Formats: sequence, C-alpha cells, structure tokens
Amino acid sequence: MKPYCCLSHNYEETLALGVQFARSLKKGDIVCLYGDLGAGKTAFVKGMAKGLKLDPVKVHSPTFTLMNVYDGKVPLYHFDLYRINAVDLFGMGYEEFFYGKGIAAVEWSEKLEGLLPEFCWKVELQHAGDDQRQISISCQGKELDERQQQLKERLT
Ligand SMILES: Nc1ncnc2c1ncn2[C@@H]1O[C@H](COP(=O)(O)OP(=O)(O)OP(=O)(O)O)[C@@H](O)[C@H]1O
Ligand SMILES: [Mg+2]
Repeated sequence: MKPYCCLSHNYEETLALGVQFARSLKKGDIVCLYGDLGAGKTAFVKGMAKGLKLDPVKVHSPTFTLMNVYDGKVPLYHFDLYRINAVDLFGMGYEEFFYGKGIAAVEWSEKLEGLLPEFCWKVELQHAGDDQRQISISCQGKELDERQQQLKERLT
C-alpha cells in the first residue's frame, strides 16, 4: 500500500499527526522513526504519547539513557539510537519491550537495519524548508495494511 504522506507546517501539526496516528496502534506495535536531527521525531512521539493518554510533558529524547518508559494502560517505550549501537540493545534485553505489552517508538531506526521485525510502522520526517516537514507513514504486513487504510481514511 502507498504510504500516507502529508506536509506539516509547524510543530503543532506534527504533534497532532502523532495523536491521530496513535489511534491506529495496538500493543506490540513497533514504530520506526527516520529523519535528520531536528526533523521532528520526538515531536511526533510526543503526539503519540498524548494520543495514548500518557503525559507528553515527560517525553524527550532519551539521549543519555537507552530508553524512556511512559507508563499507562498501554506503555510507550521510547528509544533513541543516535548515540548507541544495536549491540547495546541486546545487552538490555530489548525484545521484552519490542514484543511486550506496550508500543515501541524508535528514533534513528536505521541503526537496526536488518534486525527489525517484518511487521512495523515506518514514519519518515524530512525538512522541507523553515518549519515545514514532509511526513510519510507506511507499514508492512496484511493486518497493518488494514490499519493503515483506516488511518488514511481518518486523515484524508
Ligand atoms: N513542522 C514541524 N514539526 C516538528 N518540529 C518542528 C516543525 N517545525 C519546526 N519544528 C522544530 O524542530 C524541532 C524538532 O525537534 P525534535 O526534537 O522533535 O526533532 P528530532 O527529530 O527528534 O531530533 P533528534 O534527532 O535530535 O532527536 C523542534 O525544535 C521544533 O520546534
Ligand atoms: Mg529526538
């Protein structure tokens, strides 16, 4: 299925898209975020947290820890791999968070190339001048396809 694509004009729109996107998520989902420094990955995760009824104020890039946990009915595990390597993840037993009772959001997912499961969401954010960001959301797998379709219908 074609990705859902849109242009965000400001921080708030990226946040709002994250809120909407979260409605398509289920526990066990993995959300891989791609984009340069300052592209808005954390902003999008903040929106996801808000959509999951978690406290978005607490959301910041887990720069000096491997992962932040935002607890709630469906917890959100927020990874930022910018300064770490896949091997560090193995040491912490990341599988528990990737395939557990919550949702995993991973900034700098390219670091997991080849290690990602077959089915995951892919959110790509690109600078498009000033405060604009091109955002695309796609996924793989039949079940996710259906949910992506629902997401598209909601957003368009
Ligand atoms: N349309 C937009 N969407 C998201 N953020 C925007 C937008 N326009 C401007 N910004 C600004 O860009 C920055 C995005 O920061 P954010 O921490 O979300 O990026 P990031 O991709 O997580 O970066 P990093 O790789 O450093 O973790 C913020 O300062 C935000 O105010
Ligand atoms: Mg970030």
